[in-house]
Amino acid sequence: MSAPKLKAPRGTFDVLGEQASVRSALEASARAILEGAGYERIETPAFEATELFARGVGESTDIVRKEMFTFTDEAGRSLTLRPEGTAPVCRAYVEHGMHKRRQPVKLWYLSSFFRHERAQAGRYRQFWQVGAEALGSDDPALDAESIALLVELLQAVGVTGARLRLSSLGSAETRGEYRELLKSHLRANEGSLSEDVRSRIELNPLRAFDSDHEGTRRVMEAAPRLLEHLNDDDAEHFSQVRELLEVANVAYEVDSTLVRGLDYYARTVFELTSDSLGAQSGVGGGGRYDGLVEQLGGPPTPGVGWAAGVERMMLAGDLQPGAVAPVELFVAFEQPRSRRIAFGILAEARSAGLRAQMELGGRSPKGQLGYANALGAHYVAIVDGEATMLRDLEGGGRERIATDTVVHAVLRGLRTL
Ligand code: HAM
Repeated sequence: MSAPKLKAPRGTFDVLGEQASVRSALEASARAILEGAGYERIETPAFEATELFARGVGESTDIVRKEMFTFTDEAGRSLTLRPEGTAPVCRAYVEHGMHKRRQPVKLWYLSSFFRHERAQAGRYRQFWQVGAEALGSDDPALDAESIALLVELLQAVGVTGARLRLSSLGSAETRGEYRELLKSHLRANEGSLSEDVRSRIELNPLRAFDSDHEGTRRVMEAAPRLLEHLNDDDAEHFSQVRELLEVANVAYEVDSTLVRGLDYYARTVFELTSDSLGAQSGVGGGGRYDGLVEQLGGPPTPGVGWAAGVERMMLAGDLQPGAVAPVELFVAFEQPRSRRIAFGILAEARSAGLRAQMELGGRSPKGQLGYANALGAHYVAIVDGEATMLRDLEGGGRERIATDTVVHAVLRGLRTL
């Protein structure tokens, strides 16, 4: 009896073939754009202390309440597969004393994240994000630069027609006062609200803006808006972010109902959506998180950033798989006793910088030639002891040469192309 086949878990997938190639192209775009703007690569561990996300992302969020993959280590510590990257980057900023560097410190990542969500097209349990975080400055130009970089990335990967929605959540105090106002509005209309929203009036009233429930939506249309309650500093900050986006020709819509699913935001928030994605329309989003570093035990440090879903960018964009660089030399051999010599030529060819492969599948000499052709090899060396037949599959022609001159002959042939 054969062993049962195993499949990748629900909501996960294998990356291979063209998909892998498109991802490489996407990564190259992200690197060029972000490193060109002074962002430095960072990678944090795939799992962290659960407390980091409980404190950072917020106990009342869906992510922390029901979407984390959490486990206990041998010492009884609770660990969690990272559901997002901002809290880990802030943890790393504090841990490595990055506040002592020149500010702002700009960091980018391309990593996988884990959320226990209901899997569907564009929504997975393990997914990848490109993210950019800039810490140590509250200059509105940093917000505008960050947003413009996200827009540039989406354009570079061919996401067209994405909508940029923008808002400001103000400071923690403004939000505190506003929450009370909103709670009274929700309580006054409790009968029309969805069960879920009603149960979270105290915990997270702002999420009511996200609801698809008909009655809730009507109540929210008449709800007071945070944007109208900003204090002077925050209103001025927001107006400068907008002005700078205009200078950079970045089109946006102010959307006072925009709330994000993470608690750390203050002031600027934004989201990019694409209609071509269907229900899971968010391609990328982010905002300012001025209190987060302090909340994680660091010095008061402002920050702003975003993350964009790799799979969603691939779905909404039009990046093509890159062409595979052709094989320059394929080393074949007549008799099994020449295998050792062929292997030596392969090593020599690679040290000389050639893209080389050799027969590794036990094919007959004829089969080896067919395989070299299928690989699109430029030269094939058919080794037979001390002598080798070197064939130019591209230009035609063949010559019998001493085996120890093969690499030299190929290099010369390629140079004189
Ligand atoms: P987020 O909005 O939760 O923000 O996620 C950012 C992006 O990740 C989404 O727009 C979406 O493209 C992708 N994404 C999220 N969940 C899934 C999923 N289950 N499957 C596929 N793609 C998904 C954050 O994560 C914040 N850390 C962004 C940020 C950075 N804010 C400030 N700095």
